[in-house]
Amino acid sequence: MKRIIDFPKMANSNDKIVMLTAYDYPSAKLAEEQNVDMILVGDSLGMVVLGYDSTIEVTVADMIHHGKAVRRGAPNTFVIVDMPFGSYHGDRYDVLKTAVDIFQQTGANALKVEGVGTTLPTIKLMIEAGIPVMGHLGLQPQQAANMGGYKVQGRTEEGVQKLIDEVHQLQDVGVFAIVFECIPTEVMTQLQAILTVPSIGIGAGPTADGQVLVYHDVLAYGSHHIAKFVKQFSNIGKEAAKGIQLYKDAVKTGDFPAEIHSFHLKKEAGK
Ligand code: KIV
Ligand code: NA
Repeated sequence: MKRIIDFPKMANSNDKIVMLTAYDYPSAKLAEEQNVDMILVGDSLGMVVLGYDSTIEVTVADMIHHGKAVRRGAPNTFVIVDMPFGSYHGDRYDVLKTAVDIFQQTGANALKVEGVGTTLPTIKLMIEAGIPVMGHLGLQPQQAANMGGYKVQGRTEEGVQKLIDEVHQLQDVGVFAIVFECIPTEVMTQLQAILTVPSIGIGAGPTADGQVLVYHDVLAYGSHHIAKFVKQFSNIGKEAAKGIQLYKDAVKTGDFPAEIHSFHLKKEAGK
């Protein structure tokens, strides 16, 4: 398993960090078998697995439930679990308890939180307690209502300055890496000049130290919205549909089950 100290080394030697989301045992197992560097149990879970319209509905219990399954599927991969909507903006000692619950129960290697602002002392407390934290800047899906939808961030001078301030704040409290979602490539490059921790991009261009994509997006699995920054590398949705259709047809025609799938009573001796 990669350790936190390995990621800056990878970044420094231009060995791109590959991060993929996973939400259950088989997705985690496949990700581990292909040696991805990090698995994220993202709260994108809400959309791609649970069928919600956003990440708002996802609960701490959901994250623990799926985080545990991912850990069982990928016991030897660095796993990060998202803290879901509303779970890290209260009293920082309450949040610490929630974070400890998620961290202990899932056996994750780190937790991820979106944004900075008033959560900065909370992030600091979590790190001091021994929970590695990954930051998440740029587009923050949990803030979509405040941000006017799912929009590219950092397109104005003000927006870039905000990102610069946030990077400094997160680095100062000791996050080990930062995800940058939906920012212009030029802004990502500009931020890299001040970054002292690895950057993981999603819709942030090719220069980031690593990339992250959602499992279901990479494999074209399911029927959720596909963003511009996604590339579908295979189409298991199509394969799955084909399998279901063949199964249905075989049952209807009586071709399935065949003799080899069937059991018989044992013949009695002497008969
Ligand atoms: O929930 C998620 O999948 C994420 C990644 C897209 C970064 O936060
Ligand atoms: Na997320």
